[in-house]
This record gives sequence, structure tokens and C-alpha cells, in this order.
Amino acid sequence: MTDAVQTQNDQSKFTPRVFSGIKPSGGLTLGNYLGAIKRFVDMQSAEFQSIYCVVDLHAITVWQNPTDLRQATYEVAAGYIASGIDPEKSILFNQSQVSQHAELGWLFNCVARVGWMNRMTQFKDKAGSNAEKVSLGLYAYPSLMAADILLYHATHVPVGEDQKQHVELTRDIAQKFNHDYKVDFFPETQPVIEGPATRVMNLRDGTKKMSKSGESDMERINMTDDADLIAKKFKKAKTDPEALPDTLDGLKDRPEARNLVDIYAALNDMTPEAVITEYAGAGWGRFKPALADLAVAKLAPISTEMGRLMTETAELDRILARGAERAREIAEPILKEAYDIVGFVR
Ligand code: TRP
Repeated sequence: MTDAVQTQNDQSKFTPRVFSGIKPSGGLTLGNYLGAIKRFVDMQSAEFQSIYCVVDLHAITVWQNPTDLRQATYEVAAGYIASGIDPEKSILFNQSQVSQHAELGWLFNCVARVGWMNRMTQFKDKAGSNAEKVSLGLYAYPSLMAADILLYHATHVPVGEDQKQHVELTRDIAQKFNHDYKVDFFPETQPVIEGPATRVMNLRDGTKKMSKSGESDMERINMTDDADLIAKKFKKAKTDPEALPDTLDGLKDRPEARNLVDIYAALNDMTPEAVITEYAGAGWGRFKPALADLAVAKLAPISTEMGRLMTETAELDRILARGAERAREIAEPILKEAYDIVGFVR
């Protein structure tokens, strides 16, 4: 084989496998549900083996109070399960129980280049003018994310738009590893970014992302909010005085209106175009109660089930431990082979 042939990655030899993760830092919001969890549930099919992780190693790249971290880990696990991730069909676990993530992460710290890391826009946004004071872990985080994915030879990664650059970095790391060691070992992972609400915006300011840490609780829907609170938040969401237009184009400079239409579409598994067709000319007095009803119908059963699961921590411990065991069964041979490739004596 020539070098060129060896580095040409043959994707067909990789099992179709989905990996994704959510950080346990603060509570889950509607953004996590529509942008991530709901799509993870949809990808749980015969077509893919699916692996979903609570990425606690990533959470501590910024300070986490230990009690809150434990609570948030249970909340993310409960959110996954209550939304329909079946821990039998999918592998569900928390990252720190599978030490291979950190080990492959180290190899990738030695593959990724400082120049690549310096281009990560999320790091620049998060670190801001404070770049000297943030943790080294926050800077290296995308390399650990590449390890999360490639430890399972995952072929598909459902993520939000903001993570696309990290999945591209994952491909660069895989390619450099394959090239440097003249192997065809890591796949070229595809980001899967789709759906009308991969980016759910703040209910009080449609130009900002809905975040778990924003100052007012009214700007977000938490997955633990009960029916009354969900309805109230949608009814009080910021809008503009105009009625809904008859084409999507008419929402171009109306970020709050666009966000509510996108949320409706995502909750009801329809396109934003179809929502506009159905509600063309409707005022907020009609659209907001319809959205509130829909959101309550879809989300309240999930928040109720999450509440129940979060009191059953022994059950969650058992599920995560079993998931970690199954994850290790895939991860361990892949890490061992990577160690052999690198030349470690074992
Ligand atoms: N970085 C992702 C986020 O902030 C979380 C994450 C960590 C992840 N490892 C991953 C997502 C691997 C997909 C695949 O949302």
C-alpha cells in the first residue's frame, strides 16, 4: 500500500454509531431538549448504535460546586430518560466512569496543534478578555470532545450549530493521527445539525441564546418547570406588535417571533413553513396560547417524570454504572489499539 492509499479513509468499515453528550452544569432548558435530547431520541433506531453521555469531565472546565455537579449529573441523566432515551437501546452513562475518555484525550492533546485550538471561536467567546485566568482544561476541551467521539469510532454526532467547529476539529485530529501513524484507524465523523430549533433563543431577547445561566428565569423554559410555569413563560414571552406573516420571509427581522415559530415547529415535529401556513395572519392572542398548550402537552409529562426519577438516585446510579460498563466494552479495545499504534509498551 502506498501512503496515499493508506491515509484514504474507508468509511464503510465503521459501524454506524452515534455519540453525543450534554454537560451537567446548571439545569436543562428547552434549548437542551429541542436542540439535543429530542434529536438524540429520534436517532435511537435500528440504523445506529447510540451512545449518550453526561459529560462531567467537561463540566469542570469551569468551576462547579461538588454538590451542584452531582445534582446536575442526575438531572441530565433523568432528562435523557424522561425524554425517551431508553437505557437498554442506547448506552447511557457519565463520562468520568469511563477513564478511557481522559486517556485518549491525552493522546489527542499531543496530536492537536496549538494553532488549531487558538481558532476555536467558543473558547474565544467564553474566555473573552479573561483568557489568562481560565483553566487549561477549558482551552483543551475540544480535544477531549474529539476523544469522546473517536473513542467509540462514532460516525455521526448530533450537535447544535455552536459545536460544529468542534466536530470539524475532531475530523482534523482523526486525520492527523491517521496520517502521522500511517493507519486508517479513526473515522471521519459527520456532524448532524438539523431541525428548526437547533438554536433556541431567549424568551426575553430573541438575539441571545436561551441559556441556563441568564439572569431572569422568565427568559428560559427549564425542563423541570411545571405546566403552569411553562404556560406563563410563553404567554409572557417578548414579541412585537405585528401579526404573523404569511411567509417565513416575513419573520426576517423579527427574532422573537421567529423563535416562537421555530419552537412551535420543533415541538410539533413540523417545519416553520407549515406553522406559518397554519397561523398566517394570527395575532399573538391566538398564537401564544396555542404554543403554551402545545408546550405543556409535550413538556409537562417529561418534567413530571424527571421529578420522579431525580428522587430515585439509586436507580439512576445503577443505570449509569451499567451504561459505563457497556461503554467500556467498546472503548477499551479501541484505546488499546491506539496505544499500540502510538508505540506504548503494554
Ligand atoms: N461540547 C458539547 C457542548 O458543550 C458537549 C460535548 C462534549 C459533546 N463531548 C461531546 C457533544 C461529544 C457531542 C459529542 O454542548
